[in-house]
Amino acid sequence: MTARPPHIAVFDSGLGGLTVFREIAKIRPDANYIYCADDAGFPYGSWSERELINRVLGVMESLIEREAPDLIAIACNTASTLVLPHLRARWPGLPFVGVVPAIKPAAQMSNSRMISVLATPGTVARDYTQRLINEFAGDCDVTLVGSNRLAQLAEFAMHGEEVEDEAIAREIAPCFVEKKGARTDAVVLACTHYPLLVERFKHLAPWPVTWVDPAPAIARRVDDVLGQNPGAAAGSPLNERPSRRALFTSNEAPTPALALVLAGYGLTTRAPEPIGGA
Ligand code: DGL
Repeated sequence: MTARPPHIAVFDSGLGGLTVFREIAKIRPDANYIYCADDAGFPYGSWSERELINRVLGVMESLIEREAPDLIAIACNTASTLVLPHLRARWPGLPFVGVVPAIKPAAQMSNSRMISVLATPGTVARDYTQRLINEFAGDCDVTLVGSNRLAQLAEFAMHGEEVEDEAIAREIAPCFVEKKGARTDAVVLACTHYPLLVERFKHLAPWPVTWVDPAPAIARRVDDVLGQNPGAAAGSPLNERPSRRALFTSNEAPTPALALVLAGYGLTTRAPEPIGGA
């Protein structure tokens, strides 16, 4: 039997899913990747639930038809906390790995028992998020911070635009709570865009906290699921370089600054020519 590299699709509304893609690619450098950004629908944070379900199902329909992936990572909390059951019902044979707020690890590591969840307005409003809090952080004081702007600011930064410290500081400020001498000591990065700015968050934070990013755990989950799917578990044949492509639902060509960022992740924006030019 010829070894076939697994074909993994990583999906987000924009560039945030790159923070998940880079962790998956570290564990599975042998895989072929398609990074799909629904930039025509960005931002997802303020979509109504019904419209967002339809939107994501529609984009998935085309992605699956065109790319036939072995696994899809929904690298978006705003979508995963809502759409995963619908995706699994529609494509029961296809594994979907989602990203949901890392409330459990944050509660496990917090000494002060004060944690914050920094996310889009959509994610903080989800029943799913509330269920995670009830199940895993029942003894914590949990502050939900729904930011309207932070994902957009991360996009600006990725497109090489100047983002003022003040604009970021304003968005993260409500995460820092002090009560009866205790302080927030863990902040969940519950939107995949936020790890793109985490170094700036650290610099701007009024006091040090642990910023909890679930991406490495998601990558391990992807690897486990692929391992259970023998058709996609084998590595690339030696003569085949795995391909890594990015596609955008707007079909707009990336700006030079963005093309550079994508190249840093090893992603091209056009289908590679077949080896040998055939
Ligand atoms: N990156 C997405 C998330 O993890 C959402 C950004 C947006 O579209 O608002 O929630």
